[in-house]
Amino acid sequence: MAATTTEAEAGSDFRERFGRNFERAAQAPGRVNLIGEHTDYNGGFVLPTAIPQKTRAEVARRSDRRVRAASAEADRGRISEFVLGEETRRGAWIDYIQGVTAELARRGLAVPGFDLWIQSAVPLGSGLSSSAALEVSVLRALRDLAGFPLDDVTLALVGQRAENDLVGAPVGIMDQMASSLADVGVALFLDTRSLASERIPIPRGAGLLVVDSGVRHDHASGDYRRRRAECEDAARRLGVRELRDLTVERRPDLERLPEPLRRRARHVVTENERVIEASAALRRSDLPLLGRLFDASHESQRDDFEVSVPAVDAIVAAARAEPGVFGARLTGGGFGGSVVVLAGADGDADRGPRIVERAARAGAPAARLVVVSGEKG
Ligand code: GLA
Repeated sequence: MAATTTEAEAGSDFRERFGRNFERAAQAPGRVNLIGEHTDYNGGFVLPTAIPQKTRAEVARRSDRRVRAASAEADRGRISEFVLGEETRRGAWIDYIQGVTAELARRGLAVPGFDLWIQSAVPLGSGLSSSAALEVSVLRALRDLAGFPLDDVTLALVGQRAENDLVGAPVGIMDQMASSLADVGVALFLDTRSLASERIPIPRGAGLLVVDSGVRHDHASGDYRRRRAECEDAARRLGVRELRDLTVERRPDLERLPEPLRRRARHVVTENERVIEASAALRRSDLPLLGRLFDASHESQRDDFEVSVPAVDAIVAAARAEPGVFGARLTGGGFGGSVVVLAGADGDADRGPRIVERAARAGAPAARLVVVSGEKG
């Protein structure tokens, strides 16, 4: 995948900030979730894939206990600093880095001081996991720099913990696992309880478009947290460890739950089933079925889980009105963010712009195309 800058340019950015060359560099991609939304913190299944856009981290060791970090995308490239062992939340982007070093230390790893330069092509706040790409790219660079014995799954767990603890966002494990283990053109079927995963190639005939609504989400804010608490409450009332454990035979029990818990739990239970079906559809290259599952997932998120917004619904409707589109759904945490569209890989380069234009007229004025993938012809 083409990097956003050449090595030479990237190197000079680091040198400009820190007056020397970087020692190690690593990248990690953003992700788009194909299906399986709000299932990861319920012990369920997800099916993300990597997007072509990546985050790149360059690091060089320091001889003291300081971390000095700057990002081309944040704070106009200004350097932020902290001392290892004194990590505390500031409500700024540096919290992701502080979270990573604090968690590595908690695991008994001797983190050296370092200088860090970040560049990212992953759109921020679009539901495409710019934060997981940041955590995983920095962790990969540090693993290399300090020789930490961390496998890719552990790397994802460190990233999630950084986000849960220091950043204060109660996210599940999907994004970090996708950034750490997924590739473009391959979907990652993941059991978020066991962390067992299977790589399923995305068929050649499938094209994916991602349209950002331009409406921003904020995971640290109350809505995501509230949904998570509702799911935990529903599981408690039903006497199961997590909603993942609600077997088909026990489905009628959902009816005993008060609203909105009944609908929240119904979304999670049916979404888990859709992920299983979607994985089978993907293996068989059954794109029409996969598209219908996208559509059903969107309706469930909109009506039962209530995480969609009008601009997102307008994009989904605009996509579905396009010939060659199999299905479309809200992807990511919701309350804004992006829509993933499954279409044929027929080389129709105007499809994305047409969807954006129609959506803009129908209530999504800030819509823009952020990812296009799939082979032509
Ligand atoms: C965000 C979180 C994930 C997951 C999704 C919803 O992206 O980071 O852990 O919960 O929302 O599926």
